[in-house]
Order: sequence, then C-alpha cells, then structure tokens
Amino acid sequence: MDFNLKDKVAIIGGASKGLGRACAEVLAQEGAKVAICSRTQADLETAADEIRKSTGSEVFVYAGDLDKHETIEDLVAKTVEHFGKLDILVNNSGGPPLARAATANEELWATSIQRSLLFFARMCRAGIPHMRKQGGGRIINILASTVYQPIDNLALSGATRMGVVSYAKSLSDEVGKDGILVNNVCPGALLSERMLANTQNRADAQGITLEEALQARADETSIGRVGRPEELAYLVGFLASDKASYITGTTMLVDGGMVRSVLS
Ligand SMILES: NC(=O)c1ccc[n+]([C@@H]2O[C@H](COP(=O)([O-])OP(=O)(O)OC[C@H]3O[C@@H](n4cnc5c(N)ncnc54)[C@H](OP(=O)(O)O)[C@@H]3O)[C@@H](O)[C@H]2O)c1
Repeated sequence: MDFNLKDKVAIIGGASKGLGRACAEVLAQEGAKVAICSRTQADLETAADEIRKSTGSEVFVYAGDLDKHETIEDLVAKTVEHFGKLDILVNNSGGPPLARAATANEELWATSIQRSLLFFARMCRAGIPHMRKQGGGRIINILASTVYQPIDNLALSGATRMGVVSYAKSLSDEVGKDGILVNNVCPGALLSERMLANTQNRADAQGITLEEALQARADETSIGRVGRPEELAYLVGFLASDKASYITGTTMLVDGGMVRSVLS
C-alpha cells in the first residue's frame, strides 16, 4: 500500500534513535517532510543526513529537551516557520525512569509526569491550531504495552501513559469534526537502545545474561522473537496517511502477541 505522504509535514519526537528514528524514516520514505527532535545535536544531525540520503526527503533538525514545555512550543513554531504548515504529529520521547510502584520517589514521579503524560498534551495543544487551520491532521502517540499489562520496574510507565489513553480519547472527540484523528500505538519489546538497557537491568536483577534476558522476552511473544523498530513505524505510516480515515480514539499494540489480554 502506498501511504502517499507527499507534501505532508510531520514532527517526530525522540527521533535520533530507536522507534522515533524508524518513524521519521518511514514517513520520509512516503514523501513527508520531517522535523526531527531529540536532545543530542550530533546524533540528530547524523540521523538527518542518513534519512535525507536514503529517502531524498527534506529533514529539519531541532535539538531540545522535550521534557520542557518551552522546547515543545518552539519546536512546533519553528517547524511551521520552516515548512509552512503541520499535518502529522508523532508524539514520542524518551521513556520514563525505571521505578517500582512502592518506592518511586517525588523526583521520579515528576520526570515521568513531564515526559510520559504532559508531553503528549503539550504537543497536541501546540500542534492542533495549525492542523485546524488547514482542515485536518493526524496525531499518533507512542506509548507502551504497560497500559495493558504491568512490567517490573516500569510502574510509572503504565501509571502515566494510562492518562494519555484517556486524554487521547477525549481529544479525539473534540477534534474529530475538524478532520484531526488521534490514536495511540503501544510497542511491546522492539530492539532499541532503551529496550536493551531495560533488558540488561532485568538481566542484572535476575542474575542472567543479556542474551538470556532477550530470549525470555522473545519467549513471551506469540511470534517467538522481539520486534524491530520499523515494524511499529509501518503502522505509524498507515495511521498518518489518508488511508486511515476512519480510525480515531483507539489504542493499538505492536507486540508480537506478548500482552496476555484477549481484548486489546
Ligand atoms: N523499544 C521498545 O521496545 C519500547 C517498548 C515500550 C515503550 N517504548 C517507548 O517508546 C519510546 C521510544 O523508545 P526507544 O526504544 O526508541 O528509545 P531509545 O532507543 O532510547 O531512543 C530514544 C530517543 O528519544 C530521544 N530522547 C530521550 N529523551 C528525550 C527528551 N527528554 N527530549 C527529547 N528527546 C529525547 C533520544 O535522544 P537523546 O537522548 O539524544 O535526547 C533518542 O533519540 C520511549 O518512550 C519508550 O519508553 C519503547
């Protein structure tokens, strides 16, 4: 299927690596002009060069910390200034800190709330006026399988991202008639730096090797392997396209069958 994103403008957060990077690449492959953001300028420049080379699409680079409200407002303003409009928001950032429910302290909670709850609302609030101006848009929030099933040491991931699920449903009601569709995509275990670091943490806690811990994650899935970032990015590409014209307010898993609920 051709997602045909030619002349669309997308902002992708956390896009120098991992899932964000894969989303930027897929949207650019489909013809979108992409604005990519993360904190480390050098990594962003490298990612931008590689995406330009492999796709031929325009890439705008914005280095900044998406935990900060002012970064988000400036990222959206500068992107619109640069490309003239905004069609697609892929709301993705770093994950919340590792924490257990009983012991998560004020600092861990505060970081998680900025990064994994307020971030999504701030991106939407900044982006929606531009989408309304041109009669529509797409918002895709990258969350986590923790909204379906807890993972040890990721208590704050589920606690904050559940709020985004509810927020996105309310938002989808408010902006649907303006042609703006809002959906959540939840990765299970997709190979990235963060996923490897989290798995190493789990391996250390269990006294096993990283390879054994990765195999354990693979064994939790129906497919029998961990996923690749682009396996999530293709769904994001579809949801960003005009082909996904009757899907809003939903939450979808990309987890190879890992989550143990029947309805998802
Ligand atoms: N991979 C998985 O299997 C998986 C599963 C469930 C949920 N997730 C969630 O999906 C999101 C992406 O994960 P990933 O696996 O792609 O992680 P990753 O490989 O660590 O990549 C994270 C990206 O976000 C950027 N970033 C981190 N903190 C940022 C901040 N405060 N402001 C701006 N950019 C920031 C990083 O660059 P800088 O460090 O240079 O800023 C990097 O480009 C996370 O929220 C994660 O919790 C991933």
